[in-house]
Amino acid sequence: MAYSRDDIDSVREKTDLVELAAEITKVKRSGRSTMAVCPFHSEKTPSLSIDGARGLYHCFGCGKSGDIYRWVQETQGVDFAGAVELLARRAGVTLTVDPGAAKRRSNRERLVEVTAFAVEFFAERLTSAPDGGSARSYLRSRGYDGRDVADFSLGYSPDSWDELVKHLRDLGVRDDTMEKAGLVSPTKRGGIVDRFRGRVMFPIFDLRGDPVGFGARILDGDGPKYLNTPETAIYHKSRLLYGLNWAKSDIVRKDASVVVEGYTDVIAMHRAEMRNAVATCGTALGEDHLDLLRRFSERVVLAFDADEAGAGAALRGFDRSVPGDLDLRVAILPQGKDPADVVADGEIDSLRTAVASSIPLIQVRIDAELAKYNLDEPEARARAVKSAASVISLHPDVITRHEYAVGVARKTGVDVGLVEHAIGEAIRGNSARRRSDTPPPVSEADPVEHADSYKTELELLRVMLANDARLVDLDIGPALFYDAETLEVLPAVQELLDGLEPGETPDLGAAIGSEETPQAGLLRRLALDERPLADPAELVGRLEVVRLDEEIVQIRRTLQRMESDADNEGSSELLKRLVALEQDKRSRREIE
Ligand code: UTP
Ligand code: MN
Repeated sequence: MAYSRDDIDSVREKTDLVELAAEITKVKRSGRSTMAVCPFHSEKTPSLSIDGARGLYHCFGCGKSGDIYRWVQETQGVDFAGAVELLARRAGVTLTVDPGAAKRRSNRERLVEVTAFAVEFFAERLTSAPDGGSARSYLRSRGYDGRDVADFSLGYSPDSWDELVKHLRDLGVRDDTMEKAGLVSPTKRGGIVDRFRGRVMFPIFDLRGDPVGFGARILDGDGPKYLNTPETAIYHKSRLLYGLNWAKSDIVRKDASVVVEGYTDVIAMHRAEMRNAVATCGTALGEDHLDLLRRFSERVVLAFDADEAGAGAALRGFDRSVPGDLDLRVAILPQGKDPADVVADGEIDSLRTAVASSIPLIQVRIDAELAKYNLDEPEARARAVKSAASVISLHPDVITRHEYAVGVARKTGVDVGLVEHAIGEAIRGNSARRRSDTPPPVSEADPVEHADSYKTELELLRVMLANDARLVDLDIGPALFYDAETLEVLPAVQELLDGLEPGETPDLGAAIGSEETPQAGLLRRLALDERPLADPAELVGRLEVVRLDEEIVQIRRTLQRMESDADNEGSSELLKRLVALEQDKRSRREIE
């Protein structure tokens, strides 16, 4: 039943979300926003923020968000129409019916759809095709049964140049859509071929469970052991975690996530009934991954094999700083084994114990430093304290630093005052180093990374949602945005600002409150984020530079391809454009 927008809005005006929430949970008013104990996950301290004026809520603990209708849907188990009826009764509004409008399909939906076609195609080839035999026996050798294959939607990409391409064309998918989804590679002759050939396919899903890409393991022959989907508008490796779609509720329930190295480890953890495991997709664990995990739990347990865990590769990212609000821990696994090996060897209990008795990351690193020295000698003790101090100095909290200093004093026999002094020195050294840091040079050969762009795009949307007065005179359009998610919500945000004076507050509740789409969820999360707003001009400038870089990379690639094709038609136009872009980029640098 579709009710009219007017009725839905008038019910909204007459309903106080804070009052509604107070009927089922503890609420605490403080200034503009109200905090409540979140009814959607178990917690003691309130992390659900309610904006009574706009009728929106967002939980910074579990990520649930919505408006009065969503609230009733989720707490009473009714659908949208049911929620409207219930609240209309409560508000004394009589409902009229409105014919629904058709929904346009977005870029994101198209890419997800073609990825889903590919998931099905690969799955079918694995289970029924004769050439899937080697993949089937590989998976059997790993101990997977049919249920695992189905649970994780595993597949096999045939060892051929164009079977997927043909299949997708038959389904009416356009070549450029396949390319945008990262499923095919362009050839020098201007055609396309299947990107994944002769590999076991691990589909990668985003947080909502939509397929966005693949990790693909080689069976035999040449090539990298694992091949992944390249960066696309829906696949960003720096903020995707394999398995998070399955793990998120367990992470909330267990109040901890376990980060393992790869796809096979995640699956092994699930098989061992530890379903809070996730892995990065062929990249190191970074800040964005931690941001993602933090939404579900502050405790993050790293479970790599023991050689890695001490000083190893996966931890390199945290050399400069340790996120103070996260409880980052390390599970010490048997030497030389990853979780997949441990499970395959039938040692599930030892895996469970390793995770349960995890040690704070900082402690592991301090111990690794101390182990390098012979603590019987005074000079070595001094050096040991200095290296331990430099690890401790990365922690932002003074009390935590003190606690670790006490531990180091006890282990080395050096007076705690001196350990504290060494930490102080290290902190001064860190900030001096930071000041002299120059941004890394942009490598011309590298493809552009889109991760930073995404954050900037979100920030800009947040400034727009606030209709910040500084937006006046800025030219903001889709050309500035790259990410499928941000691109998708941009028109809604622009519509919201239509006809408003600079600085005038948009009516977010009416515009994005009642929708159940992920896009509306994103906008609510942004709207309820109360951190200070960045300068929009600066954000726009930053995005312009990234877009410039992208076009430069694109043109260079095309020129390279043309060169090898000995087809110089049109290349001079491109060269001219390239020179102009480089010029533009240089002049921007000079202004900075
Ligand atoms: P492994 O090298 O152990 O892969 O890496 P594997 O498939 O388990 O191979 P074998 O059978 O032990 O030799 C573990 C995880 O690390 C990721 C994958 O997710 C893999 O599941 N990985 C590994 C990559 O992403 N890229 C690589 O090149 C290697
Ligand atoms: Mn392995």
